[in-house]
Amino acid sequence: MTDPVPAPFPSPTVRLSSGGALPQFGFGTYKVPADETEALVRTALEVGHRHLDTATMYGNERGVGRALAASGLPRDDVFVTTKLDNPDHEPAAARAAFARSLDLLGLEWVDLYLIHWPMPRTTDFIATWRTLTEFVQDGRARAIGVSNFQPDQLRAIIDATGVVPAVNQIEVTPYLTQEPLRALHAELGIVTEAWSPLARGRVLTEPVVVDAARRLGCTPAQLVLAWHLQRGDVVFPKSSTRERMRENAGALDLVRSGQVDEATMAAISGLNRDRRVGSSPDAVELDVQR
Ligand SMILES: NC(=O)c1ccc[n+]([C@@H]2O[C@H](COP(=O)([O-])OP(=O)(O)OC[C@H]3O[C@@H](n4cnc5c(N)ncnc54)[C@H](OP(=O)(O)O)[C@@H]3O)[C@@H](O)[C@H]2O)c1
Repeated sequence: MTDPVPAPFPSPTVRLSSGGALPQFGFGTYKVPADETEALVRTALEVGHRHLDTATMYGNERGVGRALAASGLPRDDVFVTTKLDNPDHEPAAARAAFARSLDLLGLEWVDLYLIHWPMPRTTDFIATWRTLTEFVQDGRARAIGVSNFQPDQLRAIIDATGVVPAVNQIEVTPYLTQEPLRALHAELGIVTEAWSPLARGRVLTEPVVVDAARRLGCTPAQLVLAWHLQRGDVVFPKSSTRERMRENAGALDLVRSGQVDEATMAAISGLNRDRRVGSSPDAVELDVQR
């Protein structure tokens, strides 16, 4: 038996420059196996998530769509993001890929569609971006954005099309605080989405985090997620258990209570080493060139 669907936990929202509101706290689905996705995303919706992040590359859009349909939730209540895969940049391929994503998700429209990686050496990412603007015009994407774009790439697509991406989804962790890129986002009106917000679990044993969490009476994961939220970034931690999903949502209470003071925020930011736990955009492109 599953729990009844509770009222969604009240995630704050951030405004997108293109219009609309994005829940600041969501659920990520990278590495969720296709045959486990429906059950896990149903759990995420039961726990209260109303923002799901998937991608063609993850191979699990069908499961996300099935979980959404099974939840019985009104379509407008859940914010759904998916992403264009690296081999699909060319305009005709991008159009076909987007149609396939909608089909797999069982949706007529997504809330946000992203270029997953810029692939500047092997693709014309400006043409790709121009193609995504068609999906907003025809109503099948409420907003469009990018992921893993660097400053010159952001400026190039904006200069060429006049369309500012609603978000740039980039790796941000206490080890990689991304201050210059986040400052540029703020200047351009782009929302920062922080991928791998827990550094895939690696930051949770850092003494600075463990000690501060003990002092505040929360868990390390809650503290790290609260750090992201207080910086204004959007997060969607992935977890494979209901208990951790609930635990992670406790970060919202931590933010609301205002317990994470400036000194604690600064101590966590002090872990910055400009070090990645995930792929760098350059490495991803070289993988595809193989
Ligand atoms: N655009 C991009 O290029 C890109 C790249 C990477 C990720 N993303 C997106 O960002 C999302 C999040 O990133 P991510 O999945 O890489 O990493 P993450 O959310 O930072 O970390 C996930 C890992 O942390 C563990 N975890 C979760 N909650 C925990 C808790 N309370 N205590 C201890 N461990 C906990 C999970 O374990 P269990 O599963 O065992 O609970 C899992 O191993 C992805 O799912 C995806 O949607 C986007």
